[in-house]
Amino acid sequence: MLGKDYISNLLSQMTLKEKAAEMTQLWGENPDGTLMGILRGFHQNEHLSANAGSLLGFCGAQRVLEAQRLHMEESAHHIPLLFMTDVIHGYKTIFPSVLGLGAAWDPSLIEESASVAAAEASVSGVHVTFSPMADLVRDARWGRVIESTGEDPYLNSLCSAAFTRGYQGDGIGKPLHIASCVKHFIGYGAVEGGRDYDSAQIGDYQLFNDYLPPFLAAVEAGCELLMPGFNTLNGVPCTASRRLLQEILKDFMHFQGVVISDCTAVCELVPHGICEDQAQAAALSIGAGVDVEMVSSSFYDHLEKLIETGAVSMAQVDGAVERILTLKDKMGLFENPYKDASPQKEQELHLCGKHRQLARKAAAQSLVLLQNQNQALPLQNNERIALIGPYADSRKLLDIWGLVNGKEEDCVTLYEAFGEHAACAQGCRLWNLRNLEEERPSDADLIAQALELADKSDKIVLAIGEHPDMSAEAGSRTDLELPANQIALLKALHDTQKPIVTVVFTGRPLVLTEIARYSSAVVIAWFPGTEGGRGIADVLTGRCAPTGRLPMSFPRATGQAPIYYNHLPTGRPNTTNSYQPFANGYIGIEPGPLYPFGFGLTYTEFSYSEVTLSCRSVTCTAPSEQKLLTASTVVTNTGSRTGEETVQLYIQDVAGTYSRPVRMLKGFQKITLGPGESRTVAFSISPRMLEYYIPQKGISLEEGTFRIYIGPHAESTQYQEFLVKGGY
Ligand code: BGC
Repeated sequence: MLGKDYISNLLSQMTLKEKAAEMTQLWGENPDGTLMGILRGFHQNEHLSANAGSLLGFCGAQRVLEAQRLHMEESAHHIPLLFMTDVIHGYKTIFPSVLGLGAAWDPSLIEESASVAAAEASVSGVHVTFSPMADLVRDARWGRVIESTGEDPYLNSLCSAAFTRGYQGDGIGKPLHIASCVKHFIGYGAVEGGRDYDSAQIGDYQLFNDYLPPFLAAVEAGCELLMPGFNTLNGVPCTASRRLLQEILKDFMHFQGVVISDCTAVCELVPHGICEDQAQAAALSIGAGVDVEMVSSSFYDHLEKLIETGAVSMAQVDGAVERILTLKDKMGLFENPYKDASPQKEQELHLCGKHRQLARKAAAQSLVLLQNQNQALPLQNNERIALIGPYADSRKLLDIWGLVNGKEEDCVTLYEAFGEHAACAQGCRLWNLRNLEEERPSDADLIAQALELADKSDKIVLAIGEHPDMSAEAGSRTDLELPANQIALLKALHDTQKPIVTVVFTGRPLVLTEIARYSSAVVIAWFPGTEGGRGIADVLTGRCAPTGRLPMSFPRATGQAPIYYNHLPTGRPNTTNSYQPFANGYIGIEPGPLYPFGFGLTYTEFSYSEVTLSCRSVTCTAPSEQKLLTASTVVTNTGSRTGEETVQLYIQDVAGTYSRPVRMLKGFQKITLGPGESRTVAFSISPRMLEYYIPQKGISLEEGTFRIYIGPHAESTQYQEFLVKGGY
């Protein structure tokens, strides 16, 4: 690192046009594979091509070495390029989709996977990844729920900090680490109707309590960059919101890193309807606090004029460029512009055995077992298994982000993995993935083949689901059901009366009412990544037991979306399990989700004793992490196998100035118990767990009654109350 003086000196030599280029990120590559940016062709403007500050989506050691070498020769001040790309859940070795990683409820797994991703990406010349996505998600119609770790601010915060630590390690200048960019600040997950790119309305009460914590956690973990969302929040596009990017991000959260716009989001301020033209869009976003414009070039095209008219100040431009150069300096790029890029290391690290092993473990840990009637799972060695369905032998195990640098051909299918597990597997792939997209009427021949196979077998494993293209960006849906032909196949197989284990591949919570009705066992596999087939087979065959927990509620019907466990109470709650006139809910449907947040079964069962509190009344007058009391329960493995349980702590503030959520996750512990074994699981309750943000006042703890729930998911019923006196 060369330090502040070096950066100031460099800055003082740059012309305004060079500074504008430094604030611009070019697409790295044309769709036809020809190079852009420094290697010409991106922008007709040679000066911009030669002096741009960063490239998007350009990687591969050999190409980066070449591009950086040319850039160092051609750019006016020999300032190295930053290579940024979306390394979202793996680079070449692809881990499960982020929602699946969230389902593992294991921040250390996320940290480890991010560190592997950083190592693989860094040797391919990547300096910055646009991850983690810290958006809170509540509406399964929104395709980008697949990129989030779910509906809970606490779990999301643990995960976003873990991603950041994994990428950045103990310093972005160190070998095999890259810088992390948290996104999309903020409220993108709350877009109306779950329609991508739509607007969001969120009051400060919810913004600070629900949406902000995962961003704050990433910032506190040292995240170097932040990306504002495409959306408007309360009428102002995030890219142009000074309140968000200055008052909340810098003044309240103390973020000091680089703010980069989302792809062409600066220009999109015009269609958003807050700017007449791109010059004004540039002025507004720089004024709000955007340092780098991704892909479009309004900064470059208009900055000189904007300085001349006073619409943008020189101090704003210098601040932005200084932050960008400081990031480059922190990565050590002025001393070694190539950092870790190395074709030889690519060979060593990409998809190496150790990385694949972790991906296999992550795939297994991300699986959530939702139903297991008559112990249909685990499969037994002597059983004949009919492996059926569009995912039975498919390599479509990567979501869209997995495909940025990962390859389907590197994936192990479920069928192949079954083959590695002796005894199992006489399989066939009956339906190809096109059926998922076209939703044509069921094909009698295919069903006949499936039935024939089922006839010769003891059990059916049916691998069905959404197509990977149905989620992620621009992947919003109006329907959370699986395609009708898949349900038809399931029903036909059900008529054989053979036990059916349905494995569901998905990027979002789905309506599984019919799937559950016609299956003995139901497993959610998400998009499980390169080693997906093996991870799933490990769990189905009992090589390891399922341990995943839902990071989002699964609805009973699409019309329930958005549905999430930590909602506010209503004046007319429905505490029954059927529709009640004049109580909260919908006609003709049971209230609540089909499967709640935190839910997940394993191959044994656990019982919980009553919750015990160490005292019933505490006095507290200042914020702290110190223990006020202990809440505990005794968990017993009542089954016949050793198993892991995720013991969850939820708190409810019974009455506050603001209506408080019906319960909020505040802690969890994973324990492993042998058959018949019991253990006391204790949680320390601190003031920090009880406080919340009150608009115009700040973080407060209000005196009154609190309720503590400890149980296996968000609908557990055991609780005890205690009183807090004082407050702050
Ligand atoms: C997405 C971002 C992503 C960026 C760069 C945008 O379309 O919204 O999440 O990081 O593209 O690829």
